Amino acid sequence: MESSRVSTGSPELDDLLGGGLERRTITQIYGEPGCGKSTLCLLAAVAVLDEGSPVVYIDSEGFSVDRFRQIAGDAADSLAEQLFLFEPSTFDQQAMMIGECEALVRTRRAGLIVLDSATALYRSEMLPGGEVQRRLGHQMVRLLGYAKRFDIPVLVTNQVYTDIDRGVIKGLGGTTLRHISKAIVRVEKRNRSRRAVLEKHRSMPEDAAFEFAIVKEGIKRL
Ligand SMILES: Nc1ncnc2c1ncn2[C@@H]1O[C@H](COP(=O)(O)OP(=O)(O)OP(=O)(O)O)[C@@H](O)[C@H]1O
Ligand SMILES: [Mg+2]
Repeated sequence: MESSRVSTGSPELDDLLGGGLERRTITQIYGEPGCGKSTLCLLAAVAVLDEGSPVVYIDSEGFSVDRFRQIAGDAADSLAEQLFLFEPSTFDQQAMMIGECEALVRTRRAGLIVLDSATALYRSEMLPGGEVQRRLGHQMVRLLGYAKRFDIPVLVTNQVYTDIDRGVIKGLGGTTLRHISKAIVRVEKRNRSRRAVLEKHRSMPEDAAFEFAIVKEGIKRL
């Protein structure tokens, strides 16, 4: 079992997470639209690809080749060869692709699985809340199984909703997604700047934070 963490491609985010993404666990990034979730996923994917490991990338929102190119830079074409992209367009397809990607993770020895986002398609399901949460739970348990079996991290993003009674923004996916994510980073958006806050972690102080701006190459600390 390797104990070293896996770099997110951002020294600041690595520090916040106690050295990077923890193997054998799910790390969750959540926040409102445009806060930088996909940017952070692409950064982490490129960092793992740069180290020579393949990445399984499940993108339920439409993968941006342009953004991948900006973040990967000159190496984009060669790095893309080891990026295994899945693009589900329904929540059922997402479940199916999570099942299908196991063989790839095993045979290609992927170093990271990204699911961006776990809840975009979940949110459009017309099923009763309990049922859709149960299905999301299944998908997460499956991903967690891969993380443990193959000793790699899983990075997922999560969308938000406004709790009207309390006037606060919360992550979707309910307690299921909160429990199964061993590290949770909330990204707050303030005009042009962003703030990444550690909301849950097993071995780092919660509420630690850093501010950043989104730039062509990824993110830049402010
Ligand atoms: N090349 C770039 N230079 C500067 N900012 C950029 C660049 N490309 C994208 N952005 C900014 O990044 C933000 C979008 O980031 P990102 O797609 O990571 O957000 P997200 O949290 O994934 O959003 P969503 O919830 O809609 O998927 C936008 O504010 C956009 O203006
Ligand atoms: Mg996104």
